[in-house]
Amino acid sequence: MIGAMRIDVVTIFPEYLDPLRHALLGRAIERGILEVGVHNLRDWAYDVHKAVDDTPFGGGPGMVMKPEVWGPALDDVAALTGPAAADTLLDSASPHVRSGLRAGKDAAQETTQDAAGEPQDDDRPVLIVPTPAGRPFTQELAQQWASAERLVFACGRYEGIDQRVFTDAEQRYRVEEVSLGDYVLIGGEVAVLVIAEAVVRLIPGVLGNRASHEEDSFQDGLLEGPSYTKPRVWRALEVPEVLTSGNHAKVDRWRRDQSLHRTLSVRPELVEAQEAAGQLDKKDRATLRDLDKAVTWTDPAQKR
Ligand code: ADE
Repeated sequence: MIGAMRIDVVTIFPEYLDPLRHALLGRAIERGILEVGVHNLRDWAYDVHKAVDDTPFGGGPGMVMKPEVWGPALDDVAALTGPAAADTLLDSASPHVRSGLRAGKDAAQETTQDAAGEPQDDDRPVLIVPTPAGRPFTQELAQQWASAERLVFACGRYEGIDQRVFTDAEQRYRVEEVSLGDYVLIGGEVAVLVIAEAVVRLIPGVLGNRASHEEDSFQDGLLEGPSYTKPRVWRALEVPEVLTSGNHAKVDRWRRDQSLHRTLSVRPELVEAQEAAGQLDKKDRATLRDLDKAVTWTDPAQKR
């Protein structure tokens, strides 16, 4: 069957998540492959000022988001109760026919191990917390999460969210703190857009006829090589001849070599990881030996 997923996002800036309704994700919503609920954290604020943050224990700059607001918000989003039950689901940005998602539990579930090391199905939703203090978000995580039934994103602002919120949330969620990279954004909202797109495009049926993602960068641990389309010569730059030769084996080898070259040039640690994992064969190693003298990758298109 076609995969189906529900994504919920808790944020103090619900309008930031509007891009989820467009393009690929909007189409997935239209086709009933995806449901998206966006929730305003302030709906769970309880004082007259609707405060969601407070000063940090131990001093220091900035504000920390309050556990008494986040706790109930995440409880309600897990159970789809309280304000979370009333929140409307995002519609696609284009006119469409809404189709219902299945309510049952036929989506793939993560298999984890219990205390005795025995595999068990874990059907807790994944709670994804974008934070520069998290482990790196990778294609491998995107692949894992693409088969989850529910993803819930918690968007922090200011100096972050009281850590006890996530310790407590472990009872209802598989909690994952992830970082997009070694830089600091103002909040998690933009990271949610990035992660959601990386995950949703991997749900079977979302990319239409494209049968597999085998040629994506990172899918084989290396970066993808260059691509070209018509015309064969553009501004005196000629597409590499091998691509117009019709020899598929040669094309495949050339693409693999380009991939190795580009990766060695800009992300040498990825090539090392492939070597360590035993993923490079004799031909790959021969290519890498030849490349040693010319580490900088440049567009192989030729000036005529
Ligand atoms: N929030 C703030 N900075 C971030 C980063 N680098 N990755 C993910 N979430 C963030």
